[in-house]
Parts: sequence; structure tokens; C-alpha cells
Amino acid sequence: MGQNKENFANSQSSSPETTGQVSWQSPANIALVKYWGKYPGQLPMNSSLSFSLKESLVRVYINYKPSVGSQAGLQQFVFNGLPNDDFRLRIARYLTDLEVHFPFLRQLALFIATESTFPHSAGIASSAAAFSALALCLCELEAKLAGHPLAVNTKGYTGKYPADFGEAFVQKASFIARLGSGSACRSVEGGFVCWGEDEKIVGSSDEYAVGLADSAVNPKFLTLRDAVLIVDDKIKKVSSSQGHALMATHPFRETRIEQAGANMDALLKALQAGDEAAFFRVIENEALSLHSLMMSSDPGYILMKPNTIALLEKIVEYRTWSDVNIGFTMDAGPNIHLIYFTRDYAKVKALIEQELAPLCSGKRWIDDSMGNGPEKI
Ligand code: PMV
Repeated sequence: MGQNKENFANSQSSSPETTGQVSWQSPANIALVKYWGKYPGQLPMNSSLSFSLKESLVRVYINYKPSVGSQAGLQQFVFNGLPNDDFRLRIARYLTDLEVHFPFLRQLALFIATESTFPHSAGIASSAAAFSALALCLCELEAKLAGHPLAVNTKGYTGKYPADFGEAFVQKASFIARLGSGSACRSVEGGFVCWGEDEKIVGSSDEYAVGLADSAVNPKFLTLRDAVLIVDDKIKKVSSSQGHALMATHPFRETRIEQAGANMDALLKALQAGDEAAFFRVIENEALSLHSLMMSSDPGYILMKPNTIALLEKIVEYRTWSDVNIGFTMDAGPNIHLIYFTRDYAKVKALIEQELAPLCSGKRWIDDSMGNGPEKI
């Protein structure tokens, strides 16, 4: 699917001579408590919690050179080896908006290439991974241009993961990623990540995401896997921006904010206690509530397809008779994220291949698991 870095770098060789390159890869994340509804400035109506994936990645390569006259800003944008006008316009606007945080952008010409390891519109938000990787590139570029030693952590070695670059760097990258796509701020770290001020999470903020401390999570939850069952791979009929906007006047808005808070409390307790039944109860409640909110908005939208329902029934039924603990979550689309533990991999893979994949579009599903977060490439 994704080209390797060498091929990819070659695909950019048509861009004019540049003076430097920064590149990062970031994972997609799957929300367990959903961010749904926002205030101006891309601030969340409720706090959310996700985990970062391992295999579903976006890589961003920025080549840059000093601009001459009017040639500042985004000069070229390539997605998976091809120009993409929709993305180019979105990224160009984002970069212009970021000039207040990164004045150096006014003096640079940028040539950006991105590639993803998973298909676009497969039920995994590529925008979260892309804006996270882009934000990390820009933060590195800022440090580079200012002549700051960046890649040295407290132990004195050159870093590869965001944590190696220090807390301030990671926070800024998360803040910058948030401005591109809210959920992108959670893709700047690995493991479980929380976005939104919550009194139970030390250091949490509406402005950027923070990772959950190891001590807050029973180790078995670090072995979670996510099988993405692709029911439909067409572009979503309602964008998440439209969905967030519908929440501004939604009749259940206040109740949703309360519900998300209660689900966050319950999920944090379940993670700490190692309570699998409570964990699945909360994440399924969040997924079904998100879809109910879309159905009861004005106008209302049905995002599930007949096979979404068929698959959900099969998953719940399997859990009742087998000795395997599985559950589901969904984003604002028809595809299903089947969540389970690595210890059950063989059994769940057999279930998917025999019972679930036949209900997927072209029998397609993505085999993923919890990952460690972005990497400098
Ligand atoms: O970051 P956005 O604006 O694409 O919104 C993401 C919304 C959900 O994926 C439905 C939930 C979430 O928290 O990721």
C-alpha cells in the first residue's frame, strides 16, 4: 500500500532544490470516549480518551527553502504519490493560520509529501495521523531554524519518539495538531491518550492531549488490538466538522456532555481496575451514543449500513457464548472497530475470517493493535 521512504523521496525529486527536510510518521487513533461537539478555537465540549494504533500510519515529509517574494507557503502537496487538491487547499489554509504561532512560515516555501499505510476512507481517520505528523514536522522545523538542540533528551541520547524530545515539544506539537483536526492532538503520543480538562487526569487540558500514566492502566489493557471491519469504504456522507456543528444546537447537548463525563470516569476506573466487562460496556455505550446523536440531530443522519448492524449482532452474540471478551467501537461512519486482547488473537482472527469478513466490503479488514506513538523518520 504505502511506498517505502526511498521511493517516496524519489517521487519528490521534481520539486525545486530545497535547503532541508523534516519528516515524521504518526499513528491514527481510535477514540473510546468520543470527542463530539466543539467550541470556537477547536476546543472540545467534553474530554475524550483514545488509544494510538500501531500499523495505521501517515508519514509526512516537508522539504523547505527560503522563499523569494510571493513564493512563501505551500508550493506543492502530494498524497500517496499523487497531487490532491482537496487536501492541498486544507493544508495551505492550515499553514496560513499557523503563521501566528510559527512566523518563520512567512519566509519559507514548502513542498509537502505524505503517504499513508492504510486506505483512505476505511474507517480510520487519516486526518488525525496526518495533522499529528505535520505538527511534529513543524515543531522540529521551528527548533531547527532557531538553532535549538532538539534531539537530545535528559539521558543525552538522540531521540526518535516524541517523549525523547521533551514534554514542551510534545505539548506544542499536540496543540498545533489540534488546530488542524481536533482528534489529531491525541495522535502525538502512544498508548492511551486523553484530550480535554479532566480533574482526574493530572496535566490534562483542552488545548492539547496528554498520555495516561502507566500507573493508571492495568497492564492487560496495553495489549489491546483493533480489527477494523470495513463495511463501506466510500467517502463519509457527513464530515466530522458537520457532526460537531450539529451538536451546537442539539437537543441532547447538555445530557451528552454529562454522559461523556460519566463515561470517562467509568472508563478510567475500569482501566485501573482491569475490569474488562466495564471497559466494553463503556466503549460500546459511547459508540452507540455517537450514532444516536447523529440520528437525533437536525437534520438526522443514519451512518450505519445493514451490514454494520449484522456485524454488531454477531460480535455481541459471540461474546455471550464464547470465553473470549470482545467488544466494539465505531467512529462517525459505517465501519466497526472490533476491540479485543492479544491473548485471544487466534480465536478472534478465526471469528473474523469465518464469520465477520464475509460481511465486509470485499472481505476487507485491517489488523491493528495499540502502538507506541509517532516516530521521527
Ligand atoms: O477530529 P475530528 O474533527 O475529525 O473529530 C473526530 C470525531 C470522532 O472520530 C467521531 C471521535 C473522536 O474522538 O475521534
